[in-house]
Amino acid sequence: MDGHQYASALKETTVPRRLGQWTWHCWSVRTVRINVLVACAIILILCFVMFSMKDESKSFASVLPMDIISSKTAENFRSGILRKWSQWTVFSQLKKNKKITDAVFNVKDKSKKFPGAIIIGVRKGGTGALLEFLRTHPRVVANKEEMHFFSDDQNKYAKGMQWYLSRMPESEPNQLTMEKTPKYFISEEAPARIHRMNSSVRLVLILRNPVDRVISDFTQIAVKLKTVNRKQNFTKLVLTSTGDVNANYCPVYVSTYHIHLARWLELFPLTQIHIVDGDRLISEPLQELRAVEKFLGLSPFFSEDVVYFNVSRGFYCMRRQVQDQDAYRPFCLDQTKGRQHPSVERWLLDKLEQYFIKHNEILFRMIGRRFKWS
Ligand SMILES: *[C@@H]1O[C@H](CO)[C@@H](O)[C@H](O)[C@H]1NC(C)=O
Ligand SMILES: *[C@@H]1O[C@H](CO)[C@@H](O)[C@H](O)[C@H]1NC(C)=O
Ligand SMILES: *[C@@H]1O[C@H](CO)[C@@H](O)[C@H](O)[C@H]1NC(C)=O
Repeated sequence: MDGHQYASALKETTVPRRLGQWTWHCWSVRTVRINVLVACAIILILCFVMFSMKDESKSFASVLPMDIISSKTAENFRSGILRKWSQWTVFSQLKKNKKITDAVFNVKDKSKKFPGAIIIGVRKGGTGALLEFLRTHPRVVANKEEMHFFSDDQNKYAKGMQWYLSRMPESEPNQLTMEKTPKYFISEEAPARIHRMNSSVRLVLILRNPVDRVISDFTQIAVKLKTVNRKQNFTKLVLTSTGDVNANYCPVYVSTYHIHLARWLELFPLTQIHIVDGDRLISEPLQELRAVEKFLGLSPFFSEDVVYFNVSRGFYCMRRQVQDQDAYRPFCLDQTKGRQHPSVERWLLDKLEQYFIKHNEILFRMIGRRFKWS
């Protein structure tokens, strides 16, 4: 055994022995007591550091040591720590979630509610403008975007009613929650599903001249498809190969209002469905808005001061308050309504108008009301 081998052998034998000596020393009865005390002290110090660092409120940090000094008995000390601990957990919880803060301190008595009224359609009827008007009413809250909950199985309805509720905006007890999805009107499932949610929910439907709506619908689809298919021929789409109006062309099908309304009337009484005249909503918005306001049981809000005619634009505008500011920024009707329609030839317009006469008559009888559509 040379010197080097001897040194490493010595290392192997001495290291465990030293360790053993140390652990034996450590666990002697006297040192156990000291170790436990030191450990307790360290834990307590860490607790105080944690308290004062986590909690920014100075009053709380300064109260804590005073409490401990004044608590003479062990019982007082224990209850003091527990109280502070529960206070601290509440504080940290509150900071994590501002909504809980509001609820605990009752800052605003807000909650989420299922919609009490739904704008169910029709697509290109002016549902966006109507909702934009109604959102300015202090008693109405509504999301800007369309929910598509009752008409979209895979992505929305399967998520359940609680998910739907969670998507609703917060409202005060006297406020009405609304939503808008024009797809509901033509959806097979939406009427029964909405009825199941609340059989006395109020439904708002905007209808306009069905021929205008077909053209407007075509224009929007054509705008969307522009990059895919540049040459969309309206005549080819709206007529069959034999030259009749194509009832299966989606815009024509949507404009055949009585087919869809019949589904809703199977479940809801007509008194629960308010029909807004979409053409009048543009030409005389105040009358239409007042009627909607009355139907929804809202306090009178819309007046000439709120809804006014902008002469230079040639359209109605609405004064609305910008959130959390005193400034008013007008909302005007023309943007979406002013889109250029393709110049549809007179013979084709006549053909479409002729086609819709019989369908409109069925609708008028269904709702006990007529519109000047032809
Ligand atoms: C159902 O809708 C009506 C009409 O908006 C409303 O008064 C009622 O509170 C709603 N019920 C529930 C449970 O949301
Ligand atoms: C559209 O189709 C019709 C009938 O097929 C045709 O007469 C017309 O010229 C077409 N219009 C355009 C702009 O392509
Ligand atoms: C009226 O319309 C004009 C032109 O679009 C616009 O500049 C103006 O701000 C509008 N005025 C009001 C009061 O809405």
